[in-house]
Amino acid sequence: MILPNSLYGLSRRAVVGGALALAGCQRPASSQVAPVHVPPLKSLASFPVGTAVQAVHLQDPVLSGLIAAQASQLTPEWEMKMEYIVRDDGGFRFDAPDAIAAFARVNGLRLFGHTLIWYAQSPPAFEALDESRVSFAEAYRNYIHAVVGRYRGQAVGWDVVNEAVAEDGEGWRDSLWSRRLGPFDHMVLAFQHAREADPAARLFLNDYNLEWLPKKRATFLRLAERLMAAGAPIDGVGTQTHIAADQDPGELRRTIAELGQLGLLVHVSEFDVSLSRAEGVFKDWRRLAEGQAALYAQAAEAFMALPASQRFAFTFWGLRDAESWLKREDGADTPLPFDEFGQPKAAAAAWAERVA
Ligand code: XIL
Repeated sequence: MILPNSLYGLSRRAVVGGALALAGCQRPASSQVAPVHVPPLKSLASFPVGTAVQAVHLQDPVLSGLIAAQASQLTPEWEMKMEYIVRDDGGFRFDAPDAIAAFARVNGLRLFGHTLIWYAQSPPAFEALDESRVSFAEAYRNYIHAVVGRYRGQAVGWDVVNEAVAEDGEGWRDSLWSRRLGPFDHMVLAFQHAREADPAARLFLNDYNLEWLPKKRATFLRLAERLMAAGAPIDGVGTQTHIAADQDPGELRRTIAELGQLGLLVHVSEFDVSLSRAEGVFKDWRRLAEGQAALYAQAAEAFMALPASQRFAFTFWGLRDAESWLKREDGADTPLPFDEFGQPKAAAAAWAERVA
């Protein structure tokens, strides 16, 4: 199969050369109180244990060693998004996602693709599309075919549509994709194109704040049902689970259970528990860390309560606190299972106890 190498389909060079002419382009204090012993997380769990990674992480031998030891699945943190892949001239670049895929292959880890269609990203090359040259719908299909097709046979699944539900839970988000292809139709098309490109990959609808805002959860569940009813090839639902240490644990458990009731695969897809985002009256570090560990335990327990066949994976949005994306919001935050030195925290121990 020859895959498109730009939004416009196959370039003349690719057709003439009969090869994949792909433009390569380069781009760019510990919270630990007492040491805790925890066996490698992936050795305990009966389901895949994921982590988010960036290609640069894999060049650090200590960090890549931790990743290979603890995780059985990798989600590229940002380098499989349009912001990385789609260049301003409409060409695609795959050097960083290829490096992550290669690391996964060599180390026997699964690869999970994230994310195809996201309201938050609308590359200039898509915005500038001239209908006379190629239709928007064609470019949309070319993109999904190129990206999913490239990792066909390796990626076990994809976040096909990310964060489709409005922030307040009232309906769906407006985006370049919804405006050009239809608020619901662009989602159905994305699932269809992903299925065409890799029939074996499991296809997910992914969103956040589902435990924090019951109304958003309800809209998300209805959307998944509507996609199923429309015959869109959706296999699973992802709940990012970026939560704060004062999250109501009941709503967290209910979210995972209600997602399970759809009968689809369930992915806890981006788990972390922020101490800094907790709003409660107590800003006591020790109590927040206890709240964090309790939520790690609750999440693991709720995930284990799903039928085994629906447990797709449990993914942490990074392993060490040092690499967390939340550090950009507050450098003091420590949301992940391992401290900045790669030592397991009480949160990791609490999680491990519930999945073993
Ligand atoms: C974040 C990454 O962690 C950052 O490195 C990147 O700059 C922006 O995106 N929901 C998602 C993820 O689906 O893709 C986001 O990841 C976090 C929120």
